[in-house]
Amino acid sequence: MTSEGCAVDQLDPEDAASELAQLAKEIARHDRLYHGEDAPEISDADYDALRRRNQAIEAVFPDLIRPDSPTHRVGAAPLDKFEKVVHRAPMLSLDNAMNDGDVDEFLKRIRRFLSLDDREVIELVAEPKIDGLSASLRYENGIFVQGATRGDGTVGEDITQNLRTIKDIPLTLTTDSPPPVLEVRGEVYMERHEFAALNERRELAGEPVFANPRNSAAGSLRQLDPKVTASRALRFFAYSWGEAEPLIEGSYHRFIDHLSAYGFHTNPLTKRCQTAAELSAYHVQVANERHALPYDIDGIVLKVDRIDLQRRLGFVGRAPRWAIAHKFAAEQATTRIDAISIQVGRTGALTPVANLEPVTVGGVVVSNATLHNQDYIETKDIRVGDTVTVQRAGDVIPQVVEVDLVKRPKDSEPFTFPDRCPFCNSLAIRPEGEAVRRCTGGLICPAQITERLRHFVGRDAFDIEGVGKKQVPQLLDADLIRGPADIFRLVEDEAKLARLNELEGWGEKKIENLKLAVAERRKIGFDRFINALGIRFIGETNARLLARHYGTMDAWRAAMCAASAGDDDAKAELANIDGVGPKVAEALIEFFKEAHNLAVLDDLASFVEVEPQAEPEASDTPFSGKTMVFTGSLEEMSRAEAKATAEALGAKVAGSVSKKTDYVVVGADAGSKAKKAAELGVPVLSEAEWLKLARP
Ligand code: IVH
Repeated sequence: MTSEGCAVDQLDPEDAASELAQLAKEIARHDRLYHGEDAPEISDADYDALRRRNQAIEAVFPDLIRPDSPTHRVGAAPLDKFEKVVHRAPMLSLDNAMNDGDVDEFLKRIRRFLSLDDREVIELVAEPKIDGLSASLRYENGIFVQGATRGDGTVGEDITQNLRTIKDIPLTLTTDSPPPVLEVRGEVYMERHEFAALNERRELAGEPVFANPRNSAAGSLRQLDPKVTASRALRFFAYSWGEAEPLIEGSYHRFIDHLSAYGFHTNPLTKRCQTAAELSAYHVQVANERHALPYDIDGIVLKVDRIDLQRRLGFVGRAPRWAIAHKFAAEQATTRIDAISIQVGRTGALTPVANLEPVTVGGVVVSNATLHNQDYIETKDIRVGDTVTVQRAGDVIPQVVEVDLVKRPKDSEPFTFPDRCPFCNSLAIRPEGEAVRRCTGGLICPAQITERLRHFVGRDAFDIEGVGKKQVPQLLDADLIRGPADIFRLVEDEAKLARLNELEGWGEKKIENLKLAVAERRKIGFDRFINALGIRFIGETNARLLARHYGTMDAWRAAMCAASAGDDDAKAELANIDGVGPKVAEALIEFFKEAHNLAVLDDLASFVEVEPQAEPEASDTPFSGKTMVFTGSLEEMSRAEAKATAEALGAKVAGSVSKKTDYVVVGADAGSKAKKAAELGVPVLSEAEWLKLARP
């Protein structure tokens, strides 16, 4: 049945539903033939007739509009805001390899982790790293039901309506036996010529232009009005998966084949490789071809092909052990330094920055570049007025790499690094043996407060929507906040809110949104809370280690105060947490020694409910909540895999044996730790016993 069907108003609902189903399928097929394969089977006029028929039926039977309806392609009604989506499987990011050496190290690490010897082949897949933004597409029984941005990797935004307008994204999977659940992940991007055309249109209309295709893809996707997205010619490459039922098994390259069969675009340059030499050759080849591709890429992604090995390798922090991004060499350009300014970070570090005559480096306009630290400037004798080479690699901050002495002005003078903070005039001290000079102003230094608060409201910390890089100094200047907890006070104080209402960029609606955003953070995960405090060396990973070890805020606070007061047991416990090094322990102890830090923490804690750290994975394994120590050499598993496996089973892994240890796993040639376990009466497992429990 096609557009020749009977008059729309004479259809009964049952016929209408079945014709809509038929049309959805048929139009999707023609879309694919036209866009995907460049091989249309029908004329444009016939195609339009199908779409009109579909629209006419939907107009009469709005209740029957299907989630995979082709009309979604042109964009549904605008939204007020995006809803949040919790990713059922986290959306990971990738570690970077800057050169072949880093790739070798990556391969070695995999061998070590899996206890593979040098002769065993590791099958890999190499493919371009698309410079766009990732999205997760959820298909239930083959129908696209929800799409989300990556967000912070755990929670993204629901952009289903916008994704539906992207023609590369199938609204139904082309298969007769769709999986019950499949989240397809990949990259939304914009081709360079579309980006140029869009900017041209915007320029003519007097609208601000986008800096690069990536930004224009991002700007086009995060539109509350899907019609805008529909007009932007976005594309999609599929390369990964999230939740899947049944589980994805076998190999990555077979999975990619399935995705193609389902109707997705997968990158045609994807290649299977086995050796470091092949990977390197592929990298060189693609780097040479990249400018001829219609879209931007910023490196190569290498992935272990066997999915069972991917599972064993797992991930560290947010990056898988089984994949890495091998970036392309940095792009460079020459320009002049107009001035050198000093930035002060949240830990007080003074960072010199070159303010440049703006220059385009690899497609992006650069007007600032880092000069790293005092020694860097002195060693290279970098001066204001110098002509310099700046370089930019991927997302990293542009840097000044070289000075052209021939072009140096005659009257130039060496740069004198300040010994006082340019923001609070406190002494800036550089301890013996350290590269960094630090402002001693602490909480009286406006720059440090600004950066601390920016960190506090940031994505990995309290993630307060609507308060970002720009708003923090604005709120500080207006004296509406001074410390972290003041954000909570602000939304309860009508007088302050009235003042906020007067500030540029604020208004009733934005204030309402702020109240909602703050209310959402009244409950917060323990690890985020720790990270938010901005303690030196305590980022996301260390915060999680601490949260997992101590479990609750009260336990952690008590232990830290005890350690700072010199309690040996508390200090030993901290030092024994696997992954917590001496620098981290010292930073914590220093932090808790300061009464004002404790006051900030308690103040903040009084506004929020800190949720005890949830144990990852199932809680009913023999190891959940247990503390384990591995000692001696294991035959079947590397130490790293043993640790990751134990943690996945809910255990904590410690570095030394104490009264609190629940199990010691003893490999060959175990020494003092095995002895200590025996002395303390801690249960000991052989490697075989451990394996039986860990890999039943
Ligand atoms: S795989 C665990 N493959 O790069 C696997 N990512 O730096 C995670 N990206 O967030 C991603 N092209 O947005 C993968 N071929 C590709 C990619 C790719 C681009 C992006 C993706 C990811 C980011 C990590």
